[in-house]
Amino acid sequence: MQEGNLSLKTGIPGPLSAKYQEIKEKNISRGVSNLVPFLIKEGKGALVKDLDDNVYIDFSSGISTLNLGHSHPEIVEVIKKQAEKFSHTCFLVIMYESYIKLAEQLNKLAPGDFPKKAAFFNSGAEAVENAVKFARRFSKKNAIVSLECGFHGRTLLTMTLTSKVRPYKFGYGPFAPEIYKLPSPYCYRCRFGLTYPECNLACAYYLEKFFVTECPAENIAAIIVEPVQGEGGFIVPPPGYFKVIREICDKHNILLLADEIQTAFGRTGKMFALEHSGVAADLITVAKSIAGGLPLSGVIGRAEVMDAPDPGEIGGTYSGNPIACEAALKVLEIIEREDICTRSVDVGGEIVSRLRQMQERYSLIGDVRGVGAMVAMELVRDPKTKEPAPDETKMIVQECYKNGLITLSAGIFGNVIRLLVPLVITAEQLATGLDILEKAVAKVGSRVS
Ligand SMILES: Cc1ncc(COP(=O)(O)O)c(C=O)c1O
Repeated sequence: MQEGNLSLKTGIPGPLSAKYQEIKEKNISRGVSNLVPFLIKEGKGALVKDLDDNVYIDFSSGISTLNLGHSHPEIVEVIKKQAEKFSHTCFLVIMYESYIKLAEQLNKLAPGDFPKKAAFFNSGAEAVENAVKFARRFSKKNAIVSLECGFHGRTLLTMTLTSKVRPYKFGYGPFAPEIYKLPSPYCYRCRFGLTYPECNLACAYYLEKFFVTECPAENIAAIIVEPVQGEGGFIVPPPGYFKVIREICDKHNILLLADEIQTAFGRTGKMFALEHSGVAADLITVAKSIAGGLPLSGVIGRAEVMDAPDPGEIGGTYSGNPIACEAALKVLEIIEREDICTRSVDVGGEIVSRLRQMQERYSLIGDVRGVGAMVAMELVRDPKTKEPAPDETKMIVQECYKNGLITLSAGIFGNVIRLLVPLVITAEQLATGLDILEKAVAKVGSRVS
């Protein structure tokens, strides 16, 4: 595929994509839905070409999995090389170097000045499941606290930890026991009706009350948090929030588990997003951008917590696949060598400034927020009542792809447009994508009078 910009040759979807869509509907579960009505033929950097040769700018990065873009040539090369050597042994049967080297590197990179160990899995949900296993085995306690508006996966346990009812939970109960929910640090819609900084971080200190009203601290193994809540709508906790949570966890012997699955590997301008808070978690879950699009996830944590299980208690047939581990080693090398974290801050700055300009023009944009290149806008029907605008959000996403831009929605009310641009995007592609987005907002939203 040619480097450059978008090019639309047919209506969307084109005839070939439409043909496959029909076959898909006959053969694939209705529960597996798709954001855009076309199929990919090729991807390169921030560009996607569909079956009908239309080229789009991709602001979705496979939901934060392609921080280094589609088919990064160096990652493709190591994948090919490893596939030629061996593609699977099961690390529990025969070990290989890449799994061990990757653990060593991540243990060094993860925040926290203490000995760490790691273990690898396949999906994000599987990493969260295992992080909970480590926490329970170590602490000998079983309750887990998660945050409202949080998302941790679609398995029974991780779905229980997750907040949004539809489409994630409705009809799928009963849920896993001993999971408790804490209010989200969602400043735009504060559950306590307060404003930062006058709130004095009431949402964080609420945890002490929670031990009285919801679950005693002595039963709680861990609190799981996303440094920036992803699916919930890119909710950025206020400064100081994680320091307070950390202090309360320490006081009550509760492990802090940071779910960095959507936030790590440069997305927020740091290797791990929790670094912004100066706080270290006891356990970290990673997945998505760790391996440039290959299925790989992991848990990194305090050595004593990670060593709580006896040999044989942790693992899985495909966990820490050797091709994915080689890809991950290359991802870490590229992030460091090409200073991708600085690039994330620059790209994010550009996006925020464009979105803020749009916000001045369109009352539909209630809030613009984010960290680094993890940026979103929350859409509301009225900036005073903050009534969510989910239908308008869907219309903007559709208007965008029809004009060559792939964007994602998110948010507990489905009214957030989140931008997860590949961090290797060119300035021209970024500007073109933001122009398409602005035109879509202009079409759907009304101007500030
Ligand atoms: C923060 C977070 N945790 C867990 C998951 C689940 O990951 P997976 O879809 O790979 O199971 C996701 C996926 O979006 C996520 O964003």
